Amino acid sequence: MSVTVRVPAKVNVQLAVGAPRPDGFHDLANVFLAVGLYDEVTATPADELRITCSGPDAAQVPLDATNLAARAALALAERHGIAPDVHLHIAKDIPVAGGMAGGSADGAAALLACDALWSTGATRDELLAICAELGSDVPFSLVGGAALGTGRGERLTPVEVGGTFHWVFAVADGGLSTPAVYAEFDRLTADADVPAPEASPALLDALRTGDPTALAGALSNDLQPAALSLRPSLADTLAAGTAAGALAALVSGSGPTTAFLVADAESARKVAEALLTSGTCRNTRTAVSPAPGATVR
Ligand code: C5P
Repeated sequence: MSVTVRVPAKVNVQLAVGAPRPDGFHDLANVFLAVGLYDEVTATPADELRITCSGPDAAQVPLDATNLAARAALALAERHGIAPDVHLHIAKDIPVAGGMAGGSADGAAALLACDALWSTGATRDELLAICAELGSDVPFSLVGGAALGTGRGERLTPVEVGGTFHWVFAVADGGLSTPAVYAEFDRLTADADVPAPEASPALLDALRTGDPTALAGALSNDLQPAALSLRPSLADTLAAGTAAGALAALVSGSGPTTAFLVADAESARKVAEALLTSGTCRNTRTAVSPAPGATVR
């Protein structure tokens, strides 16, 4: 018997970052939007904990205990006094180390898959608490849809979305380390008075009304200058997508994936093609949002 869970990627439509906290994390107003690019994690009983991964970027995925899927299985097993003897296979379609929460997604999916396989009877709140221990973005991967994350991003409030948004994502060569991007944010803002992060009412309104033009005007990412500082070539990718007719362009989370909000599916095809021919990215993906959270198939 095995259990498969499908889990979405995310884009941050607002990422407001505060000053560093004593614990090294940053307080955020992080508006997550789940997008319809999915990983699938299959849990099967095995002699010991084992991770495998398939997909075009599988070689970049760590298969050891640093993988959030492994850590999720270990955390759940420990709480319930179960031996973590499970084979977790990740069918990877979300860009790796790209700022789309692919690793977090696998953590949430593995947690849900093991929970179903082992019939632990864990409550939703317990699963969310384990997710928060695993990483700041992991709870959102479990719930999907759209949500405002406060604290370090793990405390979620659902956000209403009144329509379908179309996106193009440009996948860059190589990843960017999230801690390195936050450290660069600290360096760039060292002499600034960093305000407390707050969700933008205009952005929440645009999500509620489902208006892509209004959303385009309200998108923001405080990590973007830091990501561009570490990877200046991303500016060319952003410019290429904007020139091709995207309503707005921004770095996705800590990058280096860039996200382009477009008017409709036809515009998505055009922008994706122009980005590819511009030679400023490795490949492109199109997707719609919102998307459901981690779900047993
Ligand atoms: O929580 P997660 O493990 O995903 O965080 C990875 C790294 O990103 C942290 O070690 C920290 O450097 C940075 N981070 C942060 N503030 C947050 C979330 C992440 O500084 N709110």
